[in-house]
Amino acid sequence: MKIISGAVELQAARRAWTEDVGFVPTMGGLHRGHAALLAHARARHRHVVASIYVNPLQFGPREDFAAYPRTLDADQALLEAEGVDVAFLPTQEAIYPAGPARQTEVRVPGLSDDLCGRYRPGHFAGVTTVVARLFGLVQPTVAYFGKKDYQQWRLIERMVRDLAWPIMVIGVDTVREADGLALSTRNRYLHADERARAPLLAELLRTAVVAIQAGDIIPAVERTVFRQLQDGGFVPDYVSVRRQLDLGPPEETDDALVILAAARLGAARLIDNREFSRLGPAGPAALHEAEKAG
Ligand code: PAF
Repeated sequence: MKIISGAVELQAARRAWTEDVGFVPTMGGLHRGHAALLAHARARHRHVVASIYVNPLQFGPREDFAAYPRTLDADQALLEAEGVDVAFLPTQEAIYPAGPARQTEVRVPGLSDDLCGRYRPGHFAGVTTVVARLFGLVQPTVAYFGKKDYQQWRLIERMVRDLAWPIMVIGVDTVREADGLALSTRNRYLHADERARAPLLAELLRTAVVAIQAGDIIPAVERTVFRQLQDGGFVPDYVSVRRQLDLGPPEETDDALVILAAARLGAARLIDNREFSRLGPAGPAALHEAEKAG
């Protein structure tokens, strides 16, 4: 595995490759969820690039930029074990040559300010800005993102489509602990008692899906889950059912839905989601997923 930290060096390595390139951008603090993204890329592409960069632009002033887990040795070992060809560990200059405040901003209107965007102003503009720069440097043919960050994945799909970039954006299923908690770098912030309560989030989303499929009214289910999270010691930001494709509010006729939630538990802000077919496990969206999985 080659380790590169400069933009010019990365571009030179990239120019030497003529076959397809799979790319997994990360902020480090790697776990089995990242390993799954890397395994998808390794299985499909001649060349695999992974990046580790804790992007200051996507953290709010009162957020955890300074505390964000930096575990470079373990991360490099994981990248190596997953067969990555190039680990791009950029300096700040390689990403923001004139400094973060002077970087050209890439922003997806509308969706960036919805859901998590309402509670983290500027966050998604920071994400799309850094991913745009990374895409420009790495020039991937395919890029992989975890579906745990569902809104992020859909935003990056939109950015790539709107800007007509020849990059395929793939969402990879969330990896969970045995008790259902979605893997996240920020789970490290949970104290033991909070960690024991944390799987409630995934469990409530699972039961909400069953209720909607049984015919319960969506806004009532959203309110119930919100209250149940509060009763479980969480401080929820939102619980919302949306269309999978564009995260718009669902119409009566939409079948491919996703329920998304964000809630704070101690020092951690947890997010999770669950895709589902409104018509149930045999509904059109579920069948489509099953067909894709072969
Ligand atoms: O999901 C992440 O780790 C980050 O938001 C990303 C996509 C690497 C951009 O900094």
